[in-house]
Amino acid sequence: MYKGYNEFMLDKDIKLKPHIHDLSGQISPAVFTVFGATGDLSLRYIMPTLLHMDNENLLSDGFKIVAAGRRDITDAGYFKLLDEAGFLPTVPASVLSRFKSRCKYVSASFEEPETFSKLKEAIDILESDVSGHICYDRFYYFAVAPKYFSIGARALHEQGLLSICPKHKKTIRIMLEKPFGADAKSAAALNKDLHKYFTEDQIYRADHYLGKETVQNILVLRFANEFLEPIWNKKYIDHIEVSVLESDGIGKRGKTYDSVGALKDVVQNHILQLLALITMEKPKNASAEALRDSKTTILKSLVKFTSQTIPKNIVRGQYQTSGNKSSYLEDLEENKSDTETYVAVKTQIKNSRWSGVPIYLRTGKRLVSRIAEISIHFKEDKNNVFAKNTAANVLSIYLQPEEIVSLQVNSKIPGTAGIHQANMIFDYAQQFESDTPPAYEKLFLDFFNGDQRLFIRSDEAEASWKFIDSITNNWNIKNSPIQKYSSGSEGPSASEKLIKSDSRSWRTK
Ligand code: BG6
Repeated sequence: MYKGYNEFMLDKDIKLKPHIHDLSGQISPAVFTVFGATGDLSLRYIMPTLLHMDNENLLSDGFKIVAAGRRDITDAGYFKLLDEAGFLPTVPASVLSRFKSRCKYVSASFEEPETFSKLKEAIDILESDVSGHICYDRFYYFAVAPKYFSIGARALHEQGLLSICPKHKKTIRIMLEKPFGADAKSAAALNKDLHKYFTEDQIYRADHYLGKETVQNILVLRFANEFLEPIWNKKYIDHIEVSVLESDGIGKRGKTYDSVGALKDVVQNHILQLLALITMEKPKNASAEALRDSKTTILKSLVKFTSQTIPKNIVRGQYQTSGNKSSYLEDLEENKSDTETYVAVKTQIKNSRWSGVPIYLRTGKRLVSRIAEISIHFKEDKNNVFAKNTAANVLSIYLQPEEIVSLQVNSKIPGTAGIHQANMIFDYAQQFESDTPPAYEKLFLDFFNGDQRLFIRSDEAEASWKFIDSITNNWNIKNSPIQKYSSGSEGPSASEKLIKSDSRSWRTK
């Protein structure tokens, strides 16, 4: 078994058929087509991840990559783009030349689906590359806006790129980048369209947070450590915070970001996934279906908003110039926009385990620091025998930049009668020698291997959109005005007030 593939939480009754060559342990020959290959995501994350996998010797010689983009450029032109994005020189020259020889750039446009015939030609040539024509498994990855998913699936179908040759019975799968739609209605329509050409077990809806080791560890932490279960509920837990805070602005994403905003960009997917993993019931087993059943049930139990409940529970903001840091409008190159670059949401889960436990979610760009954290705040026994200086226990899961799980406990200060809040710390970097792999590497390996546990199911996507819809359909400039905050600050002061009105404050490290 090669080192890149880990059988994450595999229970003995669940068998996968890994797409790995028996002897070499590498990913078997296949054609992997990346749509949106000239986009920011592909240049900064996807191609570097594939190069990293090649450098790790995870890809067999017959593994080919088709980079498909709108621009009319040659292979050399595409590598120049990658070079400009700054990733090419990070591996030995021999690996780079091997990587280049497995890549082919094809210009194909969703606006003109007939250009997909060029894709068909390119894939045909790649498939006959080795020893005459053999059928390859075909993997398609859409790193493009969701409005192109249906058009792209139909174009692939019309070009015959989704038909399986009856003799070789090869695999065909599709992976779709977030966001999956723009609301519950469009997500449902997308599901319907995709199901015309694919069965659900061929569809992989990605959320790269699920590829992070620290996120997968939430399941192990919760369900392999029995002592937590009896206290993991409203009787012992006071509140939960999930924060994904970023110091960068919107960079070059301009109009794309402006049509989405912080709520749909990060809360709808990454934050709701983290929340679901933290609060869901134990899945019946370790299968993809059981795991996703548990997450979907939680997403459906989130209390929805109305225009009356929004003012006290939601804050949205937009970053402003500060020092030499530009404002959102400057980055966007527009005079006006009501898109939020920060959002804080106070919500609840309506079920027997969590009813009444406040849940605070927040995300924002251009903040003072970059940190992604989940914190579980336990209740404090006000009648404990140590009258002074005790504080509630807090279990923090830091996802990045540091990868740490820490438990804040009250401890005696040696030589005094005082009490201090100390942290019991599990630091990945100290505990494990090897680096954690890039999130997309894990997702791609699972995609090739047919493991859907870290991908979103159709009904799960629709459930999280329904919660988001209850906000976007009801907020307006009156009940949720855009609050200005300085670039490099903690975010809008109204966000502090939101949590302070419950006599709590945001967790800071
Ligand atoms: C993406 C969002 O999904 O996640 C970006 O579109 C955000 O706006 C990014 O910056 C954050 O990912 P990470 O892994 O850097 O936390």
